[in-house]
Amino acid sequence: MVAVLAAAPAAAEEFDPAQVDAGRAIYQTTGANCEMCHEWTGTGRNPNGRYSEVMAGGPSLVASTMDRAAMIEIVSCGKMVGWGVMPQYRNDAWTPALRCGGKVAADRAPGEAPEAGLLGLAAAQVEAVVTYVRAVYQGQRMTLANCQKYFGDKSKACDLYR
Ligand code: HEC
Repeated sequence: MVAVLAAAPAAAEEFDPAQVDAGRAIYQTTGANCEMCHEWTGTGRNPNGRYSEVMAGGPSLVASTMDRAAMIEIVSCGKMVGWGVMPQYRNDAWTPALRCGGKVAADRAPGEAPEAGLLGLAAAQVEAVVTYVRAVYQGQRMTLANCQKYFGDKSKACDLYR
């Protein structure tokens, strides 16, 4: 009889605090604009328009069930959705060097090309911002400590979390 080993349960993800901080800085950066569509709380914002308009929106990252690899792909590649866009942040995405869902630009259906993020991100920056999303938002509630890191220790904005 062959012994069957049960797959080890996925280890709880560990986050490097320095990478979380680097990711937070990217999340907040004008040009990356993650906050504009996903809110500083990561709870998302109702979409009322496209990226170029004031009321762009995006889903809750708190409620996201995506794994890390899928998050890295969507931030790198972007995605057009019926009501809006998740911008493409890696300038080299949709090329043979970085395929998106297996595709390069020439394989895309009409309307599938995402708008570009105003700020291109390097691979390490995508890694960092995804670490931040996973460490602070996904499946989490906002805490005083995370609020203060976002707005600074003295901010009244965080009184709510005391
Ligand atoms: C213009 C609005 C917009 C901006 C800016 C934006 N996003 Fe998004 N994001 C979206 C939309 C729309 C989706 C939904 C795509 C879909 O439905 O598959 C999304 C999806 C995602 C997802 C997948 C969530 C899930 O579970 O489906 C992640 C992770 C994400 N965004 C992270 C980011 C990060 C990090 C940034 C900044 C670097 C960013 N987004 C900037 C609009 C935006």
